[in-house]
Amino acid sequence: MAKLIKNGTIVTATDHYQGDILIEDGLITGIGLNLSREGAEIVDVTGKYVFPGGIDPHTHLDMPFGGTVTADDFETGTIAAAFGGTTTVIDFCLTNKGKPLSQSVQTWHQKAEGKAVIDYSFHLMIAEINDEVLAELPSMIHDEGITSLKVFMAYKNVFQADDGTLYRTLLEAKKHGALVMVHAENGDVIEYLIKEALEAGQTDPIYHALTRPSLIEGEATGRAAKLTALANSQLYVVHVTCEEAVQQITEARNRGVDIWGETCPQYLMLDQSYLEKPDFEGAKYVWSPPLRPKFHQDVLWNALKTGQLQTVGSDQCSFNFNGQKDLGLGDFSKIPNGGPCIEDRFSILFSEGVGKGRITLNQFVDIVSTRSAKLFGLFPKKGTIAVGGDADIVIFDPNAKRTISAETHHMNVDYNPFEGIEITGEPVTVLSRGAYVIRDKQFVGEAGNGQFIKRGTYVSFSSQVTQPKKETVQGGTPYV
Ligand code: URP
Ligand code: ZN
Ligand code: ZN
Repeated sequence: MAKLIKNGTIVTATDHYQGDILIEDGLITGIGLNLSREGAEIVDVTGKYVFPGGIDPHTHLDMPFGGTVTADDFETGTIAAAFGGTTTVIDFCLTNKGKPLSQSVQTWHQKAEGKAVIDYSFHLMIAEINDEVLAELPSMIHDEGITSLKVFMAYKNVFQADDGTLYRTLLEAKKHGALVMVHAENGDVIEYLIKEALEAGQTDPIYHALTRPSLIEGEATGRAAKLTALANSQLYVVHVTCEEAVQQITEARNRGVDIWGETCPQYLMLDQSYLEKPDFEGAKYVWSPPLRPKFHQDVLWNALKTGQLQTVGSDQCSFNFNGQKDLGLGDFSKIPNGGPCIEDRFSILFSEGVGKGRITLNQFVDIVSTRSAKLFGLFPKKGTIAVGGDADIVIFDPNAKRTISAETHHMNVDYNPFEGIEITGEPVTVLSRGAYVIRDKQFVGEAGNGQFIKRGTYVSFSSQVTQPKKETVQGGTPYV
């Protein structure tokens, strides 16, 4: 049945205005004032914002990691995402050296099919470049629609790839129209620092942070940026936590490198002192890269405001405190890395960002939805409110107040890292391709209704932003 969303304030990355939205067959078919349509269900949203559905560019659902498997799978994870205003997730498909990429993709499809309640897509991890991988990549990108490739520069002996692999991935990505993503930390140095700490009897969670200093996140970010310049390719740095990394990204952009940066709610809201909580509670706050001293938060907010960083992903990678995080009791290096943020990403950014004047309402939409749609080949089908696009829509009450808590969240995990934080603004109703998933704060969706989305190839830097071109950059020479 057609739906007519009436009397709301429609907000996109560029505009906000009063208007009605007509939805038919899962698509937005009309936008205007005083729209009418015989037989349509009228949804009166007076006083509410109408946002495009959030796009979470960074999730790990049903992922084996750290000797265990994430607590949220594609069902619980996407239900929680929907409660939080997200209507598309892009999850990381892990691959195994020596095995076909297609096999890993098949495995990830099996994890999601019949479970996801909202739409989803995959990024593809690249662990090695060899003849088999080179032969498979074009079809992964062009036939499977998996147009982003992830390289880990950390997690030695687990996921880490060497610089040669990163460089060759950048070259292939450029050739075939994919975006390379990096986890930028220096895994070799970290391995040494961890060994040194453990030998000195430093086993508590805080040493997780102290053995992964911001300097080497900056170093790895700069290295990746320079390899990108050398390959004349394109790069997206995931989960940026610190001033050093922001500086490297900014410098590279100013030199004309096609580089983008993402941060996450935890780095904007929490700091390194959380790892010092007593009774091993610090383990709840173990992410890689780690939480940083508090001053980095202002750097990250400022980077979002000024466009030096462009997106906020959840890096959803949930592990229960009891039974999973406690694998690292007595040895911080065995604490599974990651936390649950998929549900609160959107509202935290609204409350702490728009509500506190750090970003504008339009920037908010760009950061939680539109920019990811553009970078990852989903735009304009997703990531905005436009005629012809999918009716992925969030009806948002900007005045609702709530306190974040594991007691009330919908993630399948026994704690919430933002426990007790009061936020203003909440999704009330969420539509995925025109169908209710959340209606008046109740889940009404269905496992399996989420569809895999084949994404378009990467659209380059110059057409996404107005930036000085290499030859016009003042005060510096291009890298290459
Ligand atoms: O600690 C984190 N970030 N866990 C998820 C895996 C990753 O590195 O993104
Ligand atoms: Zn990572
Ligand atoms: Zn991640």
